[in-house]
Amino acid sequence: MQATGDLAPVVTITSTPSMPNSPNIPPAMFGAGGPMLKRFDESTLASRINSGASSPPPSVKGIGKKVAKPDYSEQKIVVAMVGLPARGKSYLSNKLMIYLRWLEYDVKVFNVGQLRRTKARQKAQKLGVKEVHMADFFSHSNAQATQSRDSLAEESLETLIQWLKEGGNVGIHDATNSTRSRRAKIEARLAKEKGMILIFLESLCDDPATIAANVELKVSQGDPDYKDMSPDAARTDFLRRIKEYEKVYETITEPHLSYLRITNVGEEVSMSRINGYLSSRIAFYLMNLHIRPRNIFFSRHGESKYNVEGKIGGDSLLSPRGMQYAKALPALITDNIGEKPLTVWTSTLKRTIQTAQYLPYTKLTWKSLDELDAGVCDAMTYEEIEQAYPDDYANRDEDKFNYRYRGGESYRDVVVRLEPVIMELERQENILIIGHQAILRCLYAYFHHLPQADLPYIKIPLHTVIKLTPKAYGCDEERYTLPINAVDTHRPKPKTVKPPGTQSSTQRRYFVEDEEDMKAGVVA
Ligand code: SIN
Repeated sequence: MQATGDLAPVVTITSTPSMPNSPNIPPAMFGAGGPMLKRFDESTLASRINSGASSPPPSVKGIGKKVAKPDYSEQKIVVAMVGLPARGKSYLSNKLMIYLRWLEYDVKVFNVGQLRRTKARQKAQKLGVKEVHMADFFSHSNAQATQSRDSLAEESLETLIQWLKEGGNVGIHDATNSTRSRRAKIEARLAKEKGMILIFLESLCDDPATIAANVELKVSQGDPDYKDMSPDAARTDFLRRIKEYEKVYETITEPHLSYLRITNVGEEVSMSRINGYLSSRIAFYLMNLHIRPRNIFFSRHGESKYNVEGKIGGDSLLSPRGMQYAKALPALITDNIGEKPLTVWTSTLKRTIQTAQYLPYTKLTWKSLDELDAGVCDAMTYEEIEQAYPDDYANRDEDKFNYRYRGGESYRDVVVRLEPVIMELERQENILIIGHQAILRCLYAYFHHLPQADLPYIKIPLHTVIKLTPKAYGCDEERYTLPINAVDTHRPKPKTVKPPGTQSSTQRRYFVEDEEDMKAGVVA
């Protein structure tokens, strides 16, 4: 730790080699991995005594209940991005938004470039005046354009503040905010608001390959600034735009500000004056991100004896078909991953450990990966639950995410206990999780940014491996189903509600549909 001025500690954390299979992974500084991950051994096989009820209790009404969302209304944070174009600001904004939304905070990104384009489009439609936003527009010596850009940034900040006042929790100001004077203006404006915390998040990048990839993303993904231009002309102009910003860029060193500076996503993080629960959580998440190419594989355990009997929960062993899956899995995974290192994570329940037993990789068990706890309904069939607890059965169908089994958990509880798993997944490289239906639904929803209401209905069939490849915006997905029959444990959503989407797009979005959001430059 080094001190800059009085009471302004700057903490710098640099990525160092730590695990034999993953040379670039930084240490788990604050405990997401490490002690929470247990090395797979025989003791884990006897980890949980089966809580199975031998017969359903007599009919009881109204025991399980819906649990309300936690009250986050006091949380008001402005995250103001800092960085040159093509340095991953929008990537970080998007990742942070998805993570915090998964944890049920109300988060929006207010993108100044988007506001600029939207306004220009409206002007062109209304007045027939076409504004030119080529590199000269971003030059500091162009006084008129500089004034126009400043007022767009201010307008976007005003919209963000208003949105926080109306109930939002974290507003991300996605702009370059690249000079001390621009940051001072933001600070002065926020000082007028009570209870709003301001954090600057600077993204530095000096890796030519990452910058080139970001430039290509801009040029090739339909950025409206370069509509009707050849990719070569667009690239030339965008590089000139970056040069214009470089002429006046001032990295963040103001000792009185709260800030995080991330260099080459995952390589080095410096932070200063980050206090409080949510701010620290944001910092911790951002510290764990990296952009090295990797795959995340999900598989449920092989078919279990309880699956065959139609029972939920418990800690049963695999059925003969489940054992067949366990034996077939290594070939599928090694064909796919080749020589690359891979770590396998299981829960502490026997069916996942048995499924992983033939895989020739390092295996770790996580208690947090255990299946959703069905409390008093553990080891019952759905028919038995319906008969014994008719009201609860209906309640669960009505709002499955919020329903908590008596003595057990809701999907929301599971999301909360999976947070350290997400943190560790972000930090790691190739990982295969052998898990359970509800658990994999929660993790899948995070990676594909799927809404909460759809989450409990995501299809994660038995004997299927899901391969996710994280991209700048979202994940690509492939599914491999092994030809080994298994029961279908999926219970569809009641008919009145529309079926869930399965996969989000990896395209960056440059326009939004909603009129209000359009005005605000909001990225959905
Ligand atoms: C943009 O208009 O594309 C970015 C504006 C800024 O400099 O923040």
